[in-house]
This record gives sequence, C-alpha cells and structure tokens, in this order.
Amino acid sequence: MSSPRRNIYLIGFSYTGKSTVARQISVNLHIDFADTDELIESRAGKTIPEIFATEGESVFRELESEVLREVSQWPNMVVATGGGIVLDPANRDVMQRTGAVISLEAQPSTILARMQAEEPDATERPLLAAGDPLGRIAALKSSRQAAYAIADWTVNTDQLTMEEVSAEAQRGAEQGWERLAAGRLLEPVADDADSNFAFRVRTETAAYPIVVAPGALETLGQRLSELGLSGRVCVITDSGIPGQWRETALGSLSEAGFDPVILEIPEGEPSKNLAQAGDLFSQLGVHRIERRDAIVALGGGVVGDLAGYVAATYLRGIAFVQVPTTLLGMVDASIGGKVAIDLPTGKNLVGSFYQPRLVLSDTRTLNTLPPRHLTAGWAEVIKTGAIFDAELFDFLEANAEAILAGDEDKRAHAVLRCSAIKGRVVSLDEREMTGLRARLNLGHTLGHAVENALEYTGILHGEAVAIGTSFAAHLAERVGSITAAERQRQIDLLNTYGLPTTAPSDLDMDVIRAALAVDKKVAAGRTRWILCDGIGRGRLRDDVPPDVSDEVLKAFLDSSLRSE
Ligand SMILES: NC(=O)c1ccc[n+]([C@@H]2O[C@H](COP(=O)([O-])OP(=O)(O)OC[C@H]3O[C@@H](n4cnc5c(N)ncnc54)[C@H](O)[C@@H]3O)[C@@H](O)[C@H]2O)c1
Ligand SMILES: [Zn+2]
Repeated sequence: MSSPRRNIYLIGFSYTGKSTVARQISVNLHIDFADTDELIESRAGKTIPEIFATEGESVFRELESEVLREVSQWPNMVVATGGGIVLDPANRDVMQRTGAVISLEAQPSTILARMQAEEPDATERPLLAAGDPLGRIAALKSSRQAAYAIADWTVNTDQLTMEEVSAEAQRGAEQGWERLAAGRLLEPVADDADSNFAFRVRTETAAYPIVVAPGALETLGQRLSELGLSGRVCVITDSGIPGQWRETALGSLSEAGFDPVILEIPEGEPSKNLAQAGDLFSQLGVHRIERRDAIVALGGGVVGDLAGYVAATYLRGIAFVQVPTTLLGMVDASIGGKVAIDLPTGKNLVGSFYQPRLVLSDTRTLNTLPPRHLTAGWAEVIKTGAIFDAELFDFLEANAEAILAGDEDKRAHAVLRCSAIKGRVVSLDEREMTGLRARLNLGHTLGHAVENALEYTGILHGEAVAIGTSFAAHLAERVGSITAAERQRQIDLLNTYGLPTTAPSDLDMDVIRAALAVDKKVAAGRTRWILCDGIGRGRLRDDVPPDVSDEVLKAFLDSSLRSE
C-alpha cells in the first residue's frame, strides 16, 4: 500500500507569491518542489511569452495540463501553478484528487504594487498592455474567482510575510489531506464475489480480507484452504469461550482436512502476559507446530492480542488468523495488526505489528457474549460512526431497536461497516503516522484517564470510551465544532445502546487531571483531543486551551455528580 498522497498545489493570481511560498514549504516539510511554468519553459525551450506569441495560448494550456498530470503522479510535492491553471476543470480535478489545494489571495492593488516593484516594465505584459492595469487585474481576477474557490484553504497574503504565508498554507494543507483521506474512506467497499466480505486491508506488509457474517465460523476450514494454508492449525482460545464455538471451529477445520490442535488459556486480561506466552511457546513445540503451520485466535481481544504476539514471534512468525468472538474484537482489536502482551508496569508494553492472514467475524457468536461486554463493544462502533462515518451513525440510530433485539442482518451490517472503516483506516495509516488512525481514539483520552483513575476495576474499556466520547462531544460543542444538537445525538445514541455518558460519582477532578497528564497524548504540555467536526467527521486537536478543557471537564464531572 502506498502512503496517501500529500501533495500541495498553490493556486492563485500572478504575484501572490506561489513560487516563493512553494520553495519555502519545500524546505519546511522536506518535500520536493515544482513550478509548472518553469517546467513548461524548460520543456518547450522557450519563455512563456514566447510560447504565447509563437504558438498561442491553447498550446500553452495543453503543455500546462500535461505538466500538471505528470507532477501529480509524484508523491509529496509542493507545486506552484500558473495563474490560469484552474480554468480547465480537468486540471482542477487532478489537483483535488491528488493533494491539498491552497489559494493565495491578494488585493489587485497589492498585485500591481508587487508587479511594479519586481518588474518595472511588467505593464508591458500582453495581458496588461492596455491602460488601466489595476482595472484589468481586478476584472481578470474576478473572472477566475469561482475557479480559485475550489481551494481547501485560502491565505490572504496582503499583510503577511512569506514565512507567515507558508505556515498558513501548511496549516491549510492539513485540511486538504483530511478531505482526501475522508474521501478515500467513502470509496465504495470493494466488490468481492463474497457478499460477506467487508474490506481487504492492505498495508506495507500484508493484504487480507475481513469477512463478517452470521454463521461465518462454519466456513473457517474452507477459507484457510483458500488462503493456501495446508499444514497444521493450532486454535488458541480461552476458558470463557463457550464450547459450541470451539466445536464449530474444530469441526470446520477437520472437515477441510486440517488436523487442528486446541490450546486454552484462562479467560481475562491477566492472561496477556509473558508467562502465558512462554507456556504457549512450549505447547506449540510439544505439538510440533512448524513454520508452515498456522495459529487461529478464537476469542476476544485478550486471545487475539496474546495469540497474535505468539504467532508473530514463534519461529520468527507463522501464519495467523483472527476469529474474534467479542464485539470489541470484531470491530477493533482483530483488525490492524497490533499484537501485544502486558507487563506489570502497564498494558500492551511488549508487542509488534503483525498482520493476520484473515479476519473472520461470526456475528452469531455474539449471542453468547455476556450482555455487558456486548454493550461495551457498541461504544467502539458508535465512536467510529461519530468520527468517520455519518452513514454508520445514522444506521445505528435508525435501527437501534432491531439491533438491540438481536436482528442478525442489521447487527452484521453494523459490524461489517464498522470493520470496513477500521480496515480502511489502518490501510491508510498502519503505523499511526498521519493522524488518521489516531482519530479512532475518539473518547479514549478521557476514557483512559477514567480507567486509570479506577485502576481498571469495575469498568469495561467500552464503558470508559462511552464516557470519554460524551465528554469529547461536550468539549467539541464548547469549541464550536459541533452544535448542541449534534452533541446530544451522540449522547442519546450511547444511552440508547445502554452505555454510560457521565463519569462515575467517585471520580475526583485532580485524579483525572493527573491521569490525563501521564497519557501519551499529551504533547508539549497540551492534551491532544480527538474532536468531531459535525457527525462523521473529526480530527486530532492540540489547540484547545487547557483552561477551556479544564472548565468543560469540571462541569462534566459536576453534572455527572448531580445526575447520579
Ligand atoms: N490489538 C488491538 O488493536 C486492540 C484494540 C482494542 C483492544 N485490544 C485489547 O483487547 C482486550 C479486550 O478484549 P475484549 O473486550 O474482547 O475482552 P476479552 O477478550 O477479555 O473477552 C471478554 C470476555 O468474554 C468472554 N467471551 C469472549 N467471546 C465470548 C462469546 N462469544 N461468548 C461468551 N463469552 C465470550 C471471554 O472469555 C472474556 O471473559 C484488551 O486486552 C485490549 O488491550 C486490542
Ligand atoms: Zn478502544
């Protein structure tokens, strides 16, 4: 998977500083720089006025489109474009599809002054040759204004230094990249022959399908054969997984000609440790599991993380398949390749990125999941809708009653859609480099602080995330990125699915503050929050002043007290 394109196109009238600013951005961001006018001149072996004079504007425009198409193929470029490039809709489309588009603006008087200062005889340029240069600039500029409006961001350059314009343009580029990332997320789900196919994850190291369907467990053996696996299969599960799911898995594997072995660990988070991993390594040895064999994780996130860690390291890595049986496992833990065990000093401290060969989610296994775990899992689904997918959010709202009553198709659809989003996000940002994957942590900043403050007892992760999501909605409303109604929709949806949206009454502001301070999302003294911009959109924010988040936190904890 290639990384997402992060080009920057600078558009705007002549003398708005596109070339200078592009050079500055290229230095700031360590990315390559191109100027379409320069490329045209070097390709044609003539200056632009010469091309206009000898071959006419249409030849120039053709060259310009050709050069733009070429530079758009290169990743990570900052491109200064000619003032008229936006006139051709095809050029606008190329720029919008491959990068952030930033418009540099200036008043006609500023443009004329810069023109005269830099090039005293510029008024002899063909476009400005006739009298009243100011009027001509204004007229030409206003005729292009609609085309310049395609920009993700506009910088008014009149009063700013070149450094300031560059910094503003870089800030604006984030918006454009966000738009691109969001657009990609909404690409239709790849149409596989298999209708239960949610998404094909593609990362630098792997490509694998996520399959979601009621009853999918019965197809486990056949799917492993289809993946080309033929050796022995070791199923790792925990003592809390009902026997019927093991039997279904083992039956399916045997039927497909595998000779499965089952290894059981005690249920619960304490099993995610080094001793348990060591024990599994020995047992794999006893059962003579070899390089070409495979490990299947049948269980929740605990089994998935531990079995994945073992698969990643045993014999330097053997094939691994995730068969999640909890809702959290299906929509979150099984997708994305994070595998880990805990240390006495903290959770998930030893681990790796190790992508599975397949994620197979049988939503029917949720029928036996303790209701509290099922409810907690919905928090991650609601969170995903709130930050990435208004359609999923709407679906959860509109079908709450049926889903909660166990409607198989609707429940499977919600799980499939949510899994597909997680799959797309990790495909675009496997290692949390661009901020996209980090956005899945909506509600987790305060959520982790709450879990921490309660020392991870008496509260499930999903419940803490629900509380954190509710708080993030209040904070987003306070900073003006969502309306009161949008905040309430999130809280109502969480409540509808049986989740808490207020903090437990025994939580102390100072304890929470201390927990927030140790959270890894604190950068340069500021807590970084994931906040929605409306429903289905959002981003990482480090610009929330601490006194504002403190004030909202205080009110949140106070009202939590009152509502108890
Ligand atoms: N790797 C990741 O990206 C990632 C993401 C999120 C969470 N996690 C990890 O996931 C873990 C939590 O996962 P979890 O919430 O699934 O908890 P879990 O694995 O402990 O499962 C919860 C309980 O439900 C039982 N259970 C599982 N499936 C069942 C079923 N179908 N019917 C009846 N009982 C069933 C289990 O035995 C267990 O007791 C944490 O360790 C967390 O760190 C990992
Ligand atoms: Zn989570």
